[in-house]
Order: sequence, then structure tokens, then C-alpha cells
Amino acid sequence: MERKSLYRRRRRKMMHHMFRIWMAMVVVMVVTLAVVGSVSGESAGCTSRYARRLSQRGIDMPYNSSYFAKPVGENPPQQVHLTQGDYDGKAVIVSFVTSKLAMPKVRYGTVRGKYPSVVTGYTTQYTFHNYTSGFIHHVVISDLEFNTKYFYKVGEEEEGAREFFFTTPPAPGPDTPYAFGVIGDLGQTFDSATTVEHYLKSYGQTVLFVGDLAYQDTYPFHYQVRFDTWSRFVERSAAYQPWIWTTGNHEIDFLPHIGEITPFKPFNHRFPTPHDASSSSSPQWYAIKRGPVHIIVLSSYSAYGKYTPQYSWLVAELKKVDRKVTPWLIVLVHSPWYNSNTHHYIEAETMRVIFEPFIVAAKVDIVFAGHVHAYERTFPVSNIKYNITNGACIPEVNPASPTYITVGDGGNIEGLAIGFSEPQPHYSAFRESSFGFGLLDIKNRTTATWTWHRNQDGEAVSADSVILHNKIYVEKDVMLW
Ligand SMILES: [Fe+2]
Repeated sequence: MERKSLYRRRRRKMMHHMFRIWMAMVVVMVVTLAVVGSVSGESAGCTSRYARRLSQRGIDMPYNSSYFAKPVGENPPQQVHLTQGDYDGKAVIVSFVTSKLAMPKVRYGTVRGKYPSVVTGYTTQYTFHNYTSGFIHHVVISDLEFNTKYFYKVGEEEEGAREFFFTTPPAPGPDTPYAFGVIGDLGQTFDSATTVEHYLKSYGQTVLFVGDLAYQDTYPFHYQVRFDTWSRFVERSAAYQPWIWTTGNHEIDFLPHIGEITPFKPFNHRFPTPHDASSSSSPQWYAIKRGPVHIIVLSSYSAYGKYTPQYSWLVAELKKVDRKVTPWLIVLVHSPWYNSNTHHYIEAETMRVIFEPFIVAAKVDIVFAGHVHAYERTFPVSNIKYNITNGACIPEVNPASPTYITVGDGGNIEGLAIGFSEPQPHYSAFRESSFGFGLLDIKNRTTATWTWHRNQDGEAVSADSVILHNKIYVEKDVMLW
């Protein structure tokens, strides 16, 4: 009996010992798999399997498309578009074109059909190769009330005056909800028209446009008539709400062999920006406050190295940001700093290396870009530790860093960027080669929702969505940093 009981005790002890060894092996295996997974860059990101009709090039709408129709009248204003006209959102710049000389005048008021106020701006005109533009008028309406609907009239009654309206943003403040559309690389194809039609059905209040507008430079001698058709096309949105402009490579219009040596000449004549208001020396980079957001617009195709005007301006502008007033901080730039598409891969690497430390230190919430004709959203990421000898050059996913969103998918003549690198990098959260637009809906100082809408779906459908948490505020009265 005693021997039997001793045997049982030994067997129990051995089994207990073996169980402990087995448990230790399981723990080691789990840890090893986790480490290998993180080092090898395996990600929880998603490469969408959605397959759309693929065409190598988009097809521009014909000149006689209804989207390009000229308004009727003796000398009617056309290509009407708005952008913010000051730093705080109490001014708009109204721009329009007439084929004959006209007064650069806008009448406005808060009641439809009654225009007690009138303001006069300035007129410009430019030539490009053998093209001469119409008369381009820019009128700044200042000292508006916040959060107010205004009606305005451009042109003279007898020449075909036209009437539109816009609503000013709420005063910059920490808990003012506001919704931005985000569109890039739009062009003027049938796909572009779908993008804009879908956007018009959204509740976006202002468009953040991340560059590459008309693709006039895909035509011989950068045929500027395509700027006119494009501006008539987007009028259906841009005459009613501001489009905040970023310049892309298709706005450079640099053709020295025919004597066109001034970069951005057509863009700067047509699309003024309020750069003076943020002490910028160039229309290509500037900043505005709009409701709860401080928006910084950068130029991928202007000098950005140390001591350049853009570099010095950015450093100074970031010091002006007050997150107690504008809790959200957003950057617009054309060429993306994080992009896992094989198209334009690391094209913006030098700009990223120079500017990213400032952007990360400033706790920027989102960096929007275009250029790549596809959609991609990253996890919050930074890559600023590398110092050329330490080997620390792997982007680091970290909730305190900005989220990067590429929306170069407006739908232009060059077609989609098909071909993401594989495997999907660990910093990439969602990517898909489809046309569409995004909607950034800021709820309050802590929370915003981001949705991306592909053209093939109904406009109410979001193909990618995420709740974005502010980098500064965790709760209404709690600042993280
Ligand atoms: Fe581009």
C-alpha cells in the first residue's frame, strides 16, 4: 500500500512538472511569434480587395459637356469660386472671370435678392504661349459675421449678373463642430464629375483641396483653356463654399522652351490664397484658422530646405498655433510623406526628413496629401529618430504621431495608381486604388470621424472610416501634453 501511494505521489509530481514545462513552452512560442511578427512588419492593415473597372487613363469630358457650359448673357461672370480671405474666417475671396472687361465688383447681403453692400477688388489677366486668359477678377469681402449665410451677386444686371451664397464658419473655438470635404488630383474626367456629384450630396462645409486641379498640362503647351473648363466644372461647389487650395505638380506650368519660366503663373493668377494674413511671402504656403482647426498649407514644389522662406515660415507659424482656441491641427501638402503605393514612392522623402520633426513636435493631428491616384490611410506614425548612423529608420507607430491620409483619387486623366508594395507596411492601415473623396467631420475638441467614399458606391456609403482622437485633448478639459 505504502509503495503504491509513493508511486502515485511521484506520478502526480512528474505530471505537474511536465505541465509547467509545457506551459513555459507555450509562453515562449507566443512571445516569439509576437516579436517576429512585429519585426517582420506584419500588420493589421488592410489592402482592400475591392476591384473596380480599371482603365489606364481616364477620359476627359468633351468641351461640349454640360459641366463646362458657359452661362448666358452679354458678359456673364463665369468660373466663380471662393476661398478663405483672411486668417480667422471672417473674409472670403470671390473670384470670377469675364470674357470682356468688367468691374471687379461683388454685391452682398444676408437676405436673398437684397445686396446693400458692395466691394470692389482687382482684375488680372495673363498669357501663356498663344493663350490669353479672360479678365480674372478677385474681390475680398472682409469683416463678415461668423456663422452667417450671405448671398452675393457678381456681374452687371444688363450683362448677365449671377447670384450665389455661402456661409461663414463659426468663430475659431475649441468645441465648434465643422465638416471638411477632402479632394485631390481632381481633373475633369467622367470620374471627376462623379466625385464632385457625390461630394455635393455630402454635408461638407469647406473643401480642403490637396493639389493638382485641372491637368491642363497633359495637353500640348499646357492648354490653358482646360483651366477655364475645369473652373466652370467646379463652380457648382466652389461658388458656394470655400475651396482651400494646395498647389501640386500640375500647377507648376514651367515650360522654358516656349518662354514660360514663371512657376505657378496660371495658378497664381486664377486662385489667390490669403498668404499675407499668415505672414507668408508666397501664395504656395500659408495658414488659416477655420472653426476648430488651424490649417497649414505647404508646397511640395517650392524650396523647403533649412533657411528657405517656406522653412522659416513653417517654424514661425507652428509657434502661433494655440490649441486652446483651435484644438485640431491639420497640414495639407501635395506629395505624401507616407505612401506604400509604387507610384511616387518616397518622392517626398527629403521634405519629410526636413519637416517631419516639427510636425511631430507640434502634435499635428492629420497630414492630408494627394499626388498618388489612390487612397491610403496610415496608423499614427513617425520616423524622426534616424540620424544616418544609428539605423533607427523604421517608421514607428505611435498614437502621439500624426495620421497620414492620401486622397489623390479625385479621378483625373492619368488614371488610377494601381500597384501597392507588398507586404503592406506596418504603418499602413487601409489602402485601395479607387476614385473618391473624404469627409472629415470634427465633432468637438476630442473627437472627429473620417470617412472615405469611393465613387462606385452610393455617396452615403463609406468604404473606410475611423474615429480620430485629438493629439492634445483626451477629454474636454484634459490636455495630454
Ligand atoms: Fe501630383
